Amino acid sequence: MGEVIVTTREGEEHRLELHPGWTLMETIRDAGIDELLALCGGCCSCATCHVHVDPAFAERLPPMGEDEDDLLDSSEDRDTDSRLSCQIELNDNLDGLSVRIAEED
Ligand code: FES
Repeated sequence: MGEVIVTTREGEEHRLELHPGWTLMETIRDAGIDELLALCGGCCSCATCHVHVDPAFAERLPPMGEDEDDLLDSSEDRDTDSRLSCQIELNDNLDGLSVRIAEED
């Protein structure tokens, strides 16, 4: 069984079970980590599911869409590791994925 590792803004680390086919946002939300608001429910229109992804996994992530890119531009905390977690569908190849929840905008 795979896992994803999520670090909160407070630096608390959570190891969550990876369910292939779930998005990273759903995985974090289902674990009750309420720092991740995910206000739009995953329709790529709010940017409150922003995370920073361990660069070691960058190549394995799905490519960033234009909408995601535009939304991330609205975040002060955007950097080269930024992604919207609702746009990352998990699969076994992402076992061990490590992300940090971005600062609130
Ligand atoms: S949940 Fe709104 S953009 Fe990801």
